[in-house]
Amino acid sequence: EANDQFVVEIPKVELHVHIEGTMTPELRWQLSLRNGIPLAVGPQKTVLDSLEKVRQIYKQIRGRIGAASADQKLHFTFFEAYYGGFDLLQTEQDYYELAMNYFERAAQMNVRYCEPFFDIQGHSRRGIPVTVVMNGFKKAQIEAEERLNVKSQWIMCMLRDMSPESAMENYIAALPFRDMIVGIGLDSDEKDHPPSLFKELFLRARADGFKLTSHCDFHQKDTHDHIRQVVEEVGGKGADRIDHGMNATDRSELMGLIKERDIGMTVCPCAYIRHQPVVEVFPRIRKLFDAGIKVTIASDDPAYMEDNWVLHNLLMARDKCSFTDKEIVQLQRNAVSICWAPENSKQTLL
Ligand code: ADE
Ligand code: ZN
Repeated sequence: EANDQFVVEIPKVELHVHIEGTMTPELRWQLSLRNGIPLAVGPQKTVLDSLEKVRQIYKQIRGRIGAASADQKLHFTFFEAYYGGFDLLQTEQDYYELAMNYFERAAQMNVRYCEPFFDIQGHSRRGIPVTVVMNGFKKAQIEAEERLNVKSQWIMCMLRDMSPESAMENYIAALPFRDMIVGIGLDSDEKDHPPSLFKELFLRARADGFKLTSHCDFHQKDTHDHIRQVVEEVGGKGADRIDHGMNATDRSELMGLIKERDIGMTVCPCAYIRHQPVVEVFPRIRKLFDAGIKVTIASDDPAYMEDNWVLHNLLMARDKCSFTDKEIVQLQRNAVSICWAPENSKQTLL
């Protein structure tokens, strides 16, 4: 019988969580009432007129992209549920509450430092000014540090299924808030959207002093080439981290490059087991860890993944990879090592 208490209590660093992916059914319902926006989800815009129905939808998320099921009334894709939640976010207060809701959960799990992602284009394309988004986040960030002892820096992700021009425009529009933003990432639908499309953006962000990362989702088309681009080319000489990148374990040369260049990896087991058999997932995490690659465990979109937050992801990784308590400590050390807090502050994080 494993000792959960050790994992519960250990100080944590979380490096892969989309702030929009932390929108719980309860918050979504509240925002809907307050902003007078009816809740509708999916291609058929199924209307949800009670909190219970919202909770039901969250349990019916199946595939990642496109039609998840022949019966669209029963199942929704992750992207439908996730981007549907964006529509509710309108005011600075909404962004504050979204972020604060996450920071409160983080504090309960003893997360001491985190680097949440946000998808600026998912807000700007609905006409929400960048100042509204960032001021709301900023207020929550300051309060979380002062009241909850949870420190944070933001990573701005660009939507790879929008154009490189849009990414650049939004990047420039967010520059007045650069003090809050430590890194630039790439997320959303990976199919036929390699990191190389965003070469110019990454070069500019590197030159401007940002850290760089990119999603390479599990078992995506051209995944090995995407991983290679991230480790060798993004930003000129390669990114600082890779998000997911689980298929690196298929190729010894990719493992070698990641190790040699000391690139950190953020992996989110509860996200993978929704679409992959367990044997596809945990032996890979074990392999990365045993190779001495700096892997850290995180939650991705906890509200949309059956309410599995970073603690649940760590417990699952421990159980399925047979991580000892000592190895759990090493996972947290990895996170500190690959995080983008100022080097001279890292000793105080855990
Ligand atoms: N945006 C939010 N979560 C994501 C994921 N798991 N993959 C790609 N884009 C995302
Ligand atoms: Zn992610």
